[in-house]
Amino acid sequence: MQGLAIDVPSALAEEATLAALLRCCVRELAGPRGLVWAAPPYLLLRVGGTLLRARTYGGAALRFDGPPERLEDGAWQPLTTGELVGLAGSDLHGENAEFGGQVLASREAVAAILRARAGAVPPADPWLASEQSLVYGHRFHPSPKARGGDGWLRYAPEAHARFPVRLLGVREDVLAEGGDVSVLDAMGQAPDGYRVLPAHPWQLELLRPAFGAELIDLGPGPVVLPTSSVRTVYVPEAEACLKFSLDVRITNCVRKNAWYELAGAVELTSRLGPIFDEVAERHPATRWLPEPGHRSAALGTRLHEGLGVIVRQSPWSACDPGVTPVLAAALAVDASAKDPLAWWRAYVTVVALPVLDLYFTHGVVLEPHLQNVLAGLDADGLPVQAVFRDLEGAKLVAGRHDLGGLHPEVAAALTYDAERGWARVVYCLLVNHLTEIAATLAGQDDGLLRELWRAARDLLDRQAAELGRPLPLSDLLAGAPLPAKANLGVRWARAADRAAGYVPIANPLA
Ligand SMILES: Nc1ncnc2c1ncn2[C@@H]1O[C@H](COP(=O)(O)OP(=O)(O)OP(=O)(O)O)[C@@H](O)[C@H]1O
Ligand SMILES: [Mg+2]
Repeated sequence: MQGLAIDVPSALAEEATLAALLRCCVRELAGPRGLVWAAPPYLLLRVGGTLLRARTYGGAALRFDGPPERLEDGAWQPLTTGELVGLAGSDLHGENAEFGGQVLASREAVAAILRARAGAVPPADPWLASEQSLVYGHRFHPSPKARGGDGWLRYAPEAHARFPVRLLGVREDVLAEGGDVSVLDAMGQAPDGYRVLPAHPWQLELLRPAFGAELIDLGPGPVVLPTSSVRTVYVPEAEACLKFSLDVRITNCVRKNAWYELAGAVELTSRLGPIFDEVAERHPATRWLPEPGHRSAALGTRLHEGLGVIVRQSPWSACDPGVTPVLAAALAVDASAKDPLAWWRAYVTVVALPVLDLYFTHGVVLEPHLQNVLAGLDADGLPVQAVFRDLEGAKLVAGRHDLGGLHPEVAAALTYDAERGWARVVYCLLVNHLTEIAATLAGQDDGLLRELWRAARDLLDRQAAELGRPLPLSDLLAGAPLPAKANLGVRWARAADRAAGYVPIANPLA
């Protein structure tokens, strides 16, 4: 069909980018202003004074069926990302000259990922394949795949990159480390008086550390595979993960391990051990990924943080034999179940119930969003375990833990007040996570979607009774609006991720 050559990657990238920005607009701009109306089969909304419409399904997950349109001179016209950037900007306060560029850079990144995947071989390991499957990324972010600078494709999990880490040698008198770092020592040989410090090759390009007597370059080390967060990699040879600093903005954060986070990861690992043991007595499917050690070079804050690496256990070693860890975010894109209701009940049981127990019984706030949870699937694909990871987002509820003896900055970074912690749990677990899984399982079957939420409600209600009906959980079950993180607002304001506010959305448990 000559003359009709459609650039498929570009078209898919435009569709996904427009959809993600439109979701943000519904949630953060039109929704809170009362400018969203159900007009079946369409959802109507007003952004920047213009009437828009799209066919949607999936409840709060806002899946689109067909192209969104805008009303112009009494006729519906296809909406483009460029147009929606302009409309959204006129609803937002102040100026942000970079914003449009970030959205379009994300779109170009998706197209580049799609092209690269066409010629790449996915890992045979099903866990790693799930880590590398997030082509479109966060569905409620205006620039989910924007990655600063050039050369990122060489390190992109979605392009099935694999590359050797670089091994550095740190002279022992300037070594900064804590906890158990034996995994790092086993990764290579350092000369006498030095210790091995693996480094992400992309970070070395960005950081350009000066080599000399204190820091030496030992050449390439083991080959690694990047996981979904880009900066955390799996080292098959060591059967462990390494979480690197990466001075690149990915979604809302420049991905740097602050010095107090390096120490905090190890501190949390020792504190969470006994707590997870207790949780597993009531919720035996619960697993987590300890971060037993960190290492860096004490050569000023820039290098200490920029070269800081955290050791993390691998999901395979956390799961029982015969259980396959699969990233929740991958299931949110592609989950199929013979019996969706039974699958969902199993999923909610293993994923949601321990999170609530951790918060109410133990004063621990996890960050169980789609990228921080893996479901352990049995041979039939049924969720039988849940693996929680990423201690950077795990916090202790203020007043419930004795943090005396810790450096004040380490303690502060580990702590959340109860209210903020609860909002984080509800956002991550329900809005970011379960809403997406439910929408994917239900597809366009609204009746099934309602059934799934009724089942979730039953399970949470039973758990509430066991926990003594704590007030925040009762409010949630009574239908209190859910807090949805304002990713569009925070990017527009160029604010830090921790400054992100929440907007209320309808509660599917009601
Ligand atoms: N639904 C989602 N919610 C949150 N993050 C998502 C989602 N989908 C994809 N992501 C990506 O996952 C990462 C989440 O960031 P987060 O801070 O949890 O991870 P990290 O600390 O960088 O690494 P790790 O999870 O390996 O510890 C980001 O790279 C983000 O773009
Ligand atoms: Mg994470």
